[in-house]
Amino acid sequence: MSLQHIAFIMDGNGRWARKRNKPRVYGHLKGAYKIEEVVRWCALRGIRYTTFYAFSTENWKRPRTEVNFILGLLENKISEFYERMKKEKVRLIFSGRIKEIGDKIFNICKEYEEKTKNNDRIIVNMALNYGGRAEIIDAVRKIIKGKLENIDEENFKDFLYAPDIPDPDLIIRTSGEKRLSNFLLWQSAYSELYFTDVYWPDFSEEELDKAIEDYKKRKRRFGGIQ
Ligand code: FPP
Repeated sequence: MSLQHIAFIMDGNGRWARKRNKPRVYGHLKGAYKIEEVVRWCALRGIRYTTFYAFSTENWKRPRTEVNFILGLLENKISEFYERMKKEKVRLIFSGRIKEIGDKIFNICKEYEEKTKNNDRIIVNMALNYGGRAEIIDAVRKIIKGKLENIDEENFKDFLYAPDIPDPDLIIRTSGEKRLSNFLLWQSAYSELYFTDVYWPDFSEEELDKAIEDYKKRKRRFGGIQ
């Protein structure tokens, strides 16, 4: 069964840190490094697309220091990540209301999208200031602004943040929570869901393989009967 896109809800960073008597942000730091490992593991398995839920439109409700830390991670670590991943031919895409975060982050996102735009071996989609409902609303706004008619399920997709990325085959959420939390609402219509109790910083290659094994056993019928 084909598996070309895995999307990750990286949950449990705070609890992981607390369990170790560390500040919550330490969990986010570990979590950020985990993204790089997961990208490599997916690439080795021939999975071309990965999406990571890095910051949601609801995450602004967190204490300012934590918000600044998470956004700061992007700012401070992206060049490191880029240097290490260069030879892997990673293309970076950012999805979400990026402009609303501020000029600095917006410019960084655009800079790395531009720098990596010709890479096509692995596509990493970072959901940042992302909300599934916001994405649908933003698409509707574009359609209204363009006075477009004849919208159907196929072409509606063209107005979403990353129209060229296929829908996720598999969505993995860590830390035991079993919900989508406003992630990829349009794109997840037929995604298989996998939940694991491990916290995101503890997510391992073995865990990834377990999720993939489980996925392969599922029968995706997309509403049909075969
Ligand atoms: C959920 O854990 C995690 C987040 C809200 C943030 C995820 C961010 C990273 C992994 C850092 C990478 C960031 C960028 C911008 C590249 P939680 O804090 O909800 O954990 P908890 O449920 O245990 O409190």
